[in-house]
Amino acid sequence: MIDGFLRKWILDYSKEYKKKTKTSAKLFAKSSKLHVNGVSHNIRYYEPYPFVVKSSLGKNLVDVDSNKYTDYWMGHWALILGHGPKNVKDSLKKQIEKSWMYGTVNEQTILLSELISKAVPVAEKIRYVTSGTEATMYAVRLARSVTGKKIIAKIDGGWHGYTSDLLKSVNWPFTESESSGVVNEEQIVSIPYNDLEKSLSILKKYSKNLAGVIIEPVLGGGGCIPANPDYLKGVQEFCKKNNSLFILDEIVTGFRFRFGCLYPTMKLDPDIVTLGKIVGGGMAIGVMCGKKEIMEAADTTGKKKSERSYVGGGTFSANPASMTTGFATLNHLKSKKSVYSKINDLGEYTRKEIGKVFDGKVTVTGKGSLFMTHFLKNGVTEVTNSIQAAKCDSALLAKYHFKMIAHDGIFFLPGKLGAISDAHTKADIKKMVKASENFI
Ligand SMILES: Cc1ncc(COP(=O)(O)O)c(C=O)c1O
Repeated sequence: MIDGFLRKWILDYSKEYKKKTKTSAKLFAKSSKLHVNGVSHNIRYYEPYPFVVKSSLGKNLVDVDSNKYTDYWMGHWALILGHGPKNVKDSLKKQIEKSWMYGTVNEQTILLSELISKAVPVAEKIRYVTSGTEATMYAVRLARSVTGKKIIAKIDGGWHGYTSDLLKSVNWPFTESESSGVVNEEQIVSIPYNDLEKSLSILKKYSKNLAGVIIEPVLGGGGCIPANPDYLKGVQEFCKKNNSLFILDEIVTGFRFRFGCLYPTMKLDPDIVTLGKIVGGGMAIGVMCGKKEIMEAADTTGKKKSERSYVGGGTFSANPASMTTGFATLNHLKSKKSVYSKINDLGEYTRKEIGKVFDGKVTVTGKGSLFMTHFLKNGVTEVTNSIQAAKCDSALLAKYHFKMIAHDGIFFLPGKLGAISDAHTKADIKKMVKASENFI
């Protein structure tokens, strides 16, 4: 009965969406002929077709049919200052006049690294790449090189990009392989988030050959779930005792809640930290940084092949455009820390208000400016790990998001968590809350 109602309802919103996105439909049909699934990142596709973007500014995305959407996807959560903030744009324009690609050492990189190393105490040495995927791939290689061990533990639901080294137990059911074509999956083991006892009992089984554990301090793709600090401390302690590296993936959380990483607020001492998204200021970036003695395993000078960890960077690593937008973004955040209190407060307000709207039927997880609505199902009453998140009604969440796209001029990537930027205001959040009321 309810399913029938939902089906009719979603058809109505599909009709409304199709009516206002006719140019997108035509362009996306072209895109589908040219690209796998029509997209270049699996998650960007949604039914019936994603709208095609023409431009973006501030809090808004504008599609090719000139529909405007208040954006909560914010460039995969990278755009903490909103789309095209003036200071970042001006810096980039100036840099582009000089050039956007040198392929050599440049001063822009040094400027960005000075900011990062002061704000992230563990970043005694830094290596840039052009995506988070590469950063975590190299972090794993480094951990294996330094420890001489092979196995990497990750979290059920942990997403660290598409690297084959970590492509396991990402999506429910966590026991199934994520992809064909991945080799050596037995060298990735999976532990449950926020369950120290179970995690330690699994880690102990592999301790002899455990090169490291990689964890996000707020599980992003796995459900926007903050880690319990004692959980992270317990895993870190195990790593230290066992000569395994403790790797924190702060690609989402780095510079998201404060000027720096999340780990110092939990009194953690990771060996390697990976960064990305925000630190690139909207341009391609990935960062691997960590303690000097560990990072120096990647120093190739005067070492035999067997002694070094051959960690890359690549053609576009530390390109002056990404370094400039990253620097302009971090510099702005450093001088205007009120951005954090503003967006963290808006996040708190959002979680509270959406929770009220759906009164008992949802739990809204997150931290600071990140939030995700979980429609409770299958006996789940709280979401503290990705198993509980996976049991919630993700299809209903996608419909809720799609209704906002079709009807309210609000964009969430259907089914994904939302990010608030400095370009958003309380009035925007109120509009989204209103749109949530209409969904009921
Ligand atoms: C925690 C985390 N690590 C790594 C990645 C991969 O980064 P990228 O998409 O830049 O390769 C992501 C991307 O969403 C992420 O959320």
